[in-house]
Amino acid sequence: MSANVISGKNEWFYSDAVKEHFFHPKNIFKTEDEKKRYKADGVGIVGSPACGDVMELMIKVRNDKIADCKWSTFGCASAIASTSMLSLMVTEKGGMKLDDALKIKPNDIMKRLGGLPERKVHCSVLGDKALRAAINDYFRKSEQYERIAVDSGKIVDKILKITDKDIEQAVLEGAKTFEDVQKKTKVGIQDKSCIPEVKRLIEQFKEKYCEY
Ligand code: FES
Repeated sequence: MSANVISGKNEWFYSDAVKEHFFHPKNIFKTEDEKKRYKADGVGIVGSPACGDVMELMIKVRNDKIADCKWSTFGCASAIASTSMLSLMVTEKGGMKLDDALKIKPNDIMKRLGGLPERKVHCSVLGDKALRAAINDYFRKSEQYERIAVDSGKIVDKILKITDKDIEQAVLEGAKTFEDVQKKTKVGIQDKSCIPEVKRLIEQFKEKYCEY
């Protein structure tokens, strides 16, 4: 089976690593009761705007490292496989430092998985976002407010008030070119001065989510 399935074509192959993590997910909560009894230091719950699925991820922190990570989701096979892989990545070798865990990108997870079908890339973002939310929750609970990583949007289209987050979302939903993004968001139709910045952002988000 081909490992790299992010090719720009509508392929639906799943790598052996994806199948392994889907059929045997690591660090998943097996019951609601197990989840209730888990003494988490940080909890992250996020939903995917692209598909409406939900991810809940919890961490235990020791010495500023992730000592344990457990999760559950109503997401699809790709969300299960990528969060399973993510939970391994952050707990292997004695646990990842929180600052390093905050830097994990969906592409890092996909690299370890051998790729995901193009239309499933947004599923790998769920675990990644839930992890960041859980770490921020830990920072809040431990009163390390200065370490909270804020994901605020920056306005690029000044007339329609479209932010870089809107561009990011359009790319996550499969837009590849400026024309695709404009069709979804209407960016640059009135405020033409933002077009070069939007094109730069599209390349940046494609690099983050769609190519490796
Ligand atoms: S997580 Fe919703 S489609 Fe994959």
